[in-house]
Amino acid sequence: MTTEQIKRSDRIHRTRRKKQILLGGIVLCLLLLTVLLLTQCRKSSAESTAGSAGSVENPASMPERTAAESVSSVPSVDPTTDDWMLLPQPEAALSSGSLVLVNQSHAYDPALPQILSVYENKTDSYLVKDIYLSVTPDAMEALNAWMDAFSEETGLSDINIVAGYRSYEDQVFLYQNAVNTKGQAHADAYLALPGRSEHHTGLAVDLDTYDVAAGTSGGFDGTGAYAWAVAHAWEYGFIQRYPPHKSNITGISYESWHFRYVGLPHASVMAENDLCLEEYIDYLRGFPFSGEHLQVTCLGRSYEIYYCPRDQVYVPVNGTYTISGNNVDGFIVTIG
Ligand code: DAL
Ligand code: ZN
Repeated sequence: MTTEQIKRSDRIHRTRRKKQILLGGIVLCLLLLTVLLLTQCRKSSAESTAGSAGSVENPASMPERTAAESVSSVPSVDPTTDDWMLLPQPEAALSSGSLVLVNQSHAYDPALPQILSVYENKTDSYLVKDIYLSVTPDAMEALNAWMDAFSEETGLSDINIVAGYRSYEDQVFLYQNAVNTKGQAHADAYLALPGRSEHHTGLAVDLDTYDVAAGTSGGFDGTGAYAWAVAHAWEYGFIQRYPPHKSNITGISYESWHFRYVGLPHASVMAENDLCLEEYIDYLRGFPFSGEHLQVTCLGRSYEIYYCPRDQVYVPVNGTYTISGNNVDGFIVTIG
């Protein structure tokens, strides 16, 4: 091979080498680019996953979960349906109805109730102290039914109603008289302060017995034949308001003679569950309109009961219902 031929062969080799190096460089660059792209892809995928997890902490960006939660807390009653309507109540209505709670903590305006004379409306099954003694129309009707049933059952007609509605002044007199004659402790145990007696509602009665022939009173301790009147009072919507084992709640010592009309089915639920009125009013707050309602079957009739805060009284569009204020913070609706 000549020198010239050797130089030409070298040039060709060098040119080939350069081309190979350039090609290798390009391949390497392409490889690096591919790796870089793949890395970027993985990173953005990881970021998008992290983005979803982050949205869990942001309720506004998780409509599905919000919907699921609202399903689980959906009230059993939907006030937006055509079945219910909002029925605004006047302020005075809070102190109106058979379920008003009146005690040392909850006063009552004696000017409120509509009352009528027991003497003029009673049956012959029982007696009444005088022509002035009065109760509300609902209590009147229930009292007649209760006393008629007692008389029919026992053959007795000597229960004497000795107290019903009381004015503020009546209660001032009775309370002061008890303080003067029996002392402060006795007065506080057995008499409500004026303005805080449920006798102001016309829904309470005191029972006594009276022997017409002898002209003597016998008291009413609820024993013997009179035990029937106590045991069956709930069937006529009455409760013994101050039982001995609830004095720490009612604030009044045991009064075997004092009965309060609350109506049905409430008296039935209270009797069955041994609840005094303070406890029952509290118990009913556990059955708000927006939640589960209390379903009661009483003497063959079905009832639905619920509590409404004072500005949100909902009632059924169709059907029979009553509304009673609780004299505290809301209303009780009774359907049935
Ligand atoms: N004896 C009842 C508590 C009243 O005075 O109202
Ligand atoms: Zn009384």
